[in-house]
Amino acid sequence: MNKYSVLIVGGGSTYTPGMVLMLLSQLDRFPLRKIKLYDNDPERQEVIARACEIIIHEKAPDIEFLASTNPEEAYTDIDFAMAQIRVGKYAMRELDEKIPLKYDVVGQETCGPGGIAYGMRSIGGILENLDYMEKYSPNAWMLNYSNPAAIVAEATRRLRPNSKIINICDMPIELENHMATILGLKSRKEMDVRYFGLNHFGWWTEIYDKAGNDLMPRLKEHVRKYGYVEDESLYTDPKRDSWHATYQKARDILELDDAYLPNTYLKYYLFQDYVVKHSDKNYTRTNEVMDGREKDVFTACRKVAEDGHCHDDLFDVDNHATFIVDLATGIANNTHERMLLITENKGAIANFDPTAMVEVPCLVGKNGIEPLAMGEIPQFQKGLMEQQVSVEKLVVDAWITGSYHKLWQALTLSKTVPSATVAKQILDELIEANKGYWPELK
Ligand code: NAD
Ligand code: G6P
Ligand code: MN
Repeated sequence: MNKYSVLIVGGGSTYTPGMVLMLLSQLDRFPLRKIKLYDNDPERQEVIARACEIIIHEKAPDIEFLASTNPEEAYTDIDFAMAQIRVGKYAMRELDEKIPLKYDVVGQETCGPGGIAYGMRSIGGILENLDYMEKYSPNAWMLNYSNPAAIVAEATRRLRPNSKIINICDMPIELENHMATILGLKSRKEMDVRYFGLNHFGWWTEIYDKAGNDLMPRLKEHVRKYGYVEDESLYTDPKRDSWHATYQKARDILELDDAYLPNTYLKYYLFQDYVVKHSDKNYTRTNEVMDGREKDVFTACRKVAEDGHCHDDLFDVDNHATFIVDLATGIANNTHERMLLITENKGAIANFDPTAMVEVPCLVGKNGIEPLAMGEIPQFQKGLMEQQVSVEKLVVDAWITGSYHKLWQALTLSKTVPSATVAKQILDELIEANKGYWPELK
């Protein structure tokens, strides 16, 4: 079997150690000759890299390891770039969340004004990395899960139409894991699903087991009571983080439209007032992440470097990230595995903009991905999606042309924002906060 060289872009990410451990757990189906890390923040990557080097040396000494902040060194001789960058890091995510909240508007990483602001930062970062890949390893594929994936996908569709980049999100996978647990299945792979939407904005229309039996009635019954919280006894657990409330809220989304099972992110568009009311304007999800995952991962990495050895309980293997290996092997071995991916619509959703970047089941092969036809969608979903996809397209227009008005329109059109007046106030504050990250707007 071929052995592959993988570059993790955003080597300093909190997900990198879990990702490396995941890759090491999948060597039988995805053999590696090299693991490389690339980041543009040397200090941040260094901490993670020292731990990864020890882990790889211990568990798979034949795999070559290199961490670099030099694009040529990092991007030369790679087969896959797995991209997880956060342009502006948590400091900027915190502002994305807190600025809109000042105006009683949803403050969220990828939804509403926060997601728009993040999109305006991410586009340049992803293009820069895609260009390095094409220069130094022109045959490589970029598997991108840097956010906001919807805006990044629209930007690369427009600006790098021939690039080998596939955009992917773990939210449907995470929710399918919950569904499998709810149903008592061993794995989400025991389900066949139909799904349509945009990234962080979609619905499951059908779910079957491998014998073709309909699993939707049992799932809906559970979601109507507990949302996607798997176990009744966990439902009222006060110690859980803010994701718990998000899983619960699926209950109310299903009540609004009980035809399909919703992606949890729809709560930001359908229950905006509830979300704002339940947000702490001084302590948002970023603060939770900085006090939790970021602290834990960096402390664990420093411990590994000090001890020169990795104890097995220090990191969680990011098992749910195995979908990235599914995608890589799908490409490498031309498996035609069916996966939910972000792709140009081209008629997959029959009554929707053919140029929209949508999230639908696709077949994965050596020459890219092919979307499967999901047919016509109902008026309610279509209306919501047309509004949201227009926001995403206007953001990309604004980035390309440097137009203040396009971005103001994008914010105004977001279902999370009540008026053009509020949109302008938020926009003006975001422009100040994002100086040096956004193109200059006129
Ligand atoms: P993080 O801030 O810990 O890590 C991101 C890293 O990217 C940082 O080390 C930063 O220095 C680096 N970086 C920023 N700009 C860069 C550039 N231009 N070139 C190279 N490196 C750059 O963030 P995190 O919380 O670990 O998340 C990483 C990314 O993964 C985010 O974009 C997040 O939204 C995304 N994510 C996506 C999914 C999904 O479903 N699509 C799931 C989880 C995380
Ligand atoms: C899910 C989404 C990602 C998002 C992440 C945020 O996994 O699919 O797109 O980046 O949640 O998680 P966090 O723990 O950083 O809030
Ligand atoms: Mn996602």
